[in-house]
Amino acid sequence: MISNTRRLTLTVSRMACAAVSAACAMLPWASSANESVAAKPHFTDSEISIILSHGPWPAPAPLDSTNRVSGKQEAIEFGTRLFFDQRLSGPGTKSCASCHVPERNWTDNLRRGVGVGELDRNTPTLMNLIAGRWYGWDGAADSLWFQSLRPILDKRELAATPRHVAQLVRNDNEMSCRYRKAFGAAPSPTDDETVFVNVGKALAAFQETLTSGRTPFDQFRDALARAASPSSWRYSEPAQRGLKIFIGKGGCTHCHTGPNFTSGEFFNTGLSRFAPQGKPDPGRLAGIRQLLESRFNLLGPYNDDKAGAGTAHTRHASLEKTNFGEFKVPSLRNLMLTSPYGRDGLVDTLAEVVRHYTGLDPVRLHAKDRQLAKPLNLSASEQSDLVVFLESLSTFSNPWRPEDGGRCD
Ligand code: HEC
Ligand code: HEC
Repeated sequence: MISNTRRLTLTVSRMACAAVSAACAMLPWASSANESVAAKPHFTDSEISIILSHGPWPAPAPLDSTNRVSGKQEAIEFGTRLFFDQRLSGPGTKSCASCHVPERNWTDNLRRGVGVGELDRNTPTLMNLIAGRWYGWDGAADSLWFQSLRPILDKRELAATPRHVAQLVRNDNEMSCRYRKAFGAAPSPTDDETVFVNVGKALAAFQETLTSGRTPFDQFRDALARAASPSSWRYSEPAQRGLKIFIGKGGCTHCHTGPNFTSGEFFNTGLSRFAPQGKPDPGRLAGIRQLLESRFNLLGPYNDDKAGAGTAHTRHASLEKTNFGEFKVPSLRNLMLTSPYGRDGLVDTLAEVVRHYTGLDPVRLHAKDRQLAKPLNLSASEQSDLVVFLESLSTFSNPWRPEDGGRCD
């Protein structure tokens, strides 16, 4: 017999759960005890194998063979200092951290980034970039160290020059000492470009260490991997139903694949509409051109992997296979901390993103054949389930803490 007090507690819990379904994903009474197991979403074997492919988290990642200081502690320390140092910018007023703010999940929560000037695009997070293939919304860089050089030179970001950066590193005792420890030799007194590129490599070594924490989804995925009994699942039913749409009729998993929920490739979903100076952003089309023109790409002299491993994708990047207005598929981790969304930052909420997809056929988009598109037409409750699922890919803990590496001597 259930006592009155116990029955009351159960009812109150259920009401709270209905009101804040996302929070329920994290609470033990998320799925109440007397609801029949049959009413829960059921996952088939093939659905389970797709869910398992979105983990484990954190995902093991290899070091970057094109960057000889990837993973090296002294380079990580040097890179950390560079990242927060405003002297890196031409006018001495901005650092990487002005836009990639640690407490904001390494973004700025603005529509478009503002440095020395205003940018055309939304500032992406720097979490989980290790082992990426392309960087920037348009993939204009093919390594993390090359991508770290671009904002230093961009007039609207740090507006500096290789000479400015090389002089800073040479003339500051702390900087030149850390440079020597990271690269095994003092900064060259004459070769500005080599010092500049090495600064990019140290910045990359630091950014490779930024990994987001485990989320309610990761707990659920691991419970499925252990074949834990459904009665022990601590993942709310709306989140489970949203997950089923995400990997099923929503077609989301075709592009938002793997543990970091991105294939790292480029598509035009129509989510972003901002046209700087009235001209639509050509995205990937201009990105490939910039990539191939730059001497800092992996085909150039600064790739430390002399065997040429990892250059195949750069060599094969071609304009013919590319459509106007394509952008890189973003990760879906920690989205609750990174609004507004889309490469132009015009979308304020996850509900709006989902509403946008409802009018599209994501599977057809993936096939790059929009003629045959038929809209997804998700009902209001399916849309809210999908939002609850997306929320379950977030954690509010940011494990990164500044460390004072002490003086260098
Ligand atoms: C003015 C704001 C601003 C500053 C300063 C800035 N960034 Fe960014 N960052 C952005 C924006 C906006 C993008 C997207 C660029 C694009 O796609 O064209 C970006 C993209 C990136 C990316 C690519 C992320 C991805 O998902 O592909 C990396 C890495 C990065 N920045 C690192 C840095 C580093 C390192 C510095 C300092 C040297 C820096 N940023 C300074 C705004 C900024
Ligand atoms: C055809 C590939 C593709 C499919 C399928 C797809 N997406 Fe995306 N998604 C993208 C691209 C590309 C962007 C960036 C678009 C832009 O800003 O122009 C994006 C952006 C997003 C964003 C914004 C993230 C941010 O940080 O700004 C969310 C959220 C999202 N997608 C969720 C979904 C959901 C949910 C589905 C399924 C209904 C889905 N996506 C299906 C390619 C895809």
